[in-house]
Amino acid sequence: MLYFDNTATTFPKPESVYKAMDEFMRHSAANPGRSGHKMSIIAEQAVTETRNLLAKFFNARNVSNLVFTLNTTDALNIAIKGVLSSGDHVITSCLEHNSVSRPLQRLKRDGIISVDFLKASTDGFIAPADVKNAIKSNTRLIVLTHCSNVLGTIQPIKEIGRIARDHGVLFLVDAAQTAGVLPIDVEEDFIDMLAFPGHKALFGPPGTGGLWTRQGLVIGYFREGGTGKDSQSEIHPAEMPYRLEAGTPNTVGIAGLNAGVKFILNEGIKKIHAHELALTKRLLEFFTANKDKFTLYGPADCANRLSTISFNVKNMPPEEVSAVLDNSFDTASRSGLHCAPLVHKHIGTFPEGTLRFGLGYFNTAEEVDKVARALEEIASA
Ligand SMILES: Cc1ncc(COP(=O)(O)O)c(C=O)c1O
Repeated sequence: MLYFDNTATTFPKPESVYKAMDEFMRHSAANPGRSGHKMSIIAEQAVTETRNLLAKFFNARNVSNLVFTLNTTDALNIAIKGVLSSGDHVITSCLEHNSVSRPLQRLKRDGIISVDFLKASTDGFIAPADVKNAIKSNTRLIVLTHCSNVLGTIQPIKEIGRIARDHGVLFLVDAAQTAGVLPIDVEEDFIDMLAFPGHKALFGPPGTGGLWTRQGLVIGYFREGGTGKDSQSEIHPAEMPYRLEAGTPNTVGIAGLNAGVKFILNEGIKKIHAHELALTKRLLEFFTANKDKFTLYGPADCANRLSTISFNVKNMPPEEVSAVLDNSFDTASRSGLHCAPLVHKHIGTFPEGTLRFGLGYFNTAEEVDKVARALEEIASA
């Protein structure tokens, strides 16, 4: 099987991830921090070790402010709803995933906030100057995806982060497509809140993700319950990470995520990125050479892009192509809007969407050539 849906979630995972989860589940899966027995302490240590590992990975100093979440969507919801209040203005973009745009749209509809959705360039980049010009006296938050999950375009988060910092506006980065494949430094990039998945380029299993928030930033919370701490208190603890982590965590997933991050550190993020870009270049060249049969969306070169590629076969609906790829060529792709409807309005592919390939570290040049041959066959049928 050819798996080209790594933008949705990575597959396969490194062997060490499967092993770590199996091992943890068999020998260490007690409830962490709740009971004083040895296995519970081991489980708690695994969670803390992973927290430290991730904080270091993103150069985040205050480790307890890194909390585990269900996925990126969960982290984004906690961040957005945790910092916004009545009368706030938010700046975001047309590139956003529904996990950013839907919470914002709802808060807007409920009359709580106002939002500006900035337009991207034709190729899919947000201009820092547009962000700066959109700032108002009541702007509380700028929230931006680090990389479009439709066009693969990397956004200039450092420049935008600097603008946010200079204007006293919070900067939330959606790192769903970049955590694990592009270096992210919360200090250098002026990030106040970082939402990331564990299950994509960090190679953890589904059901893992995280949110890091800057020290001193008070995040409102809605989940209250057991934390294994201050059980005598009638109210939920205010300190991080307990503040945002109520209930039994996904320890098995966190053990897998731990192994995923270690895999990246061993391989080297540059090597991973370079491999994915080499495959991307190969596929982009194929589309460029076959412009009569395919429409490519987003940049045709590799500058400032990752390995997410959106395209369509001319005169064929994307879901039909995706089904043929799956049924006749055993190839996993994704068709449609990819949970990011606004960008499709921007590139003219709404409502049918595009066909999307997300190339991953475990894909090979031979696989890319094989899928290119399959596409040629489909387009010529
Ligand atoms: C840019 C972007 N943001 C957010 C999400 C949501 O991620 P998750 O599935 O981890 O909730 C995705 C998922 O593909 C994404 O691509």
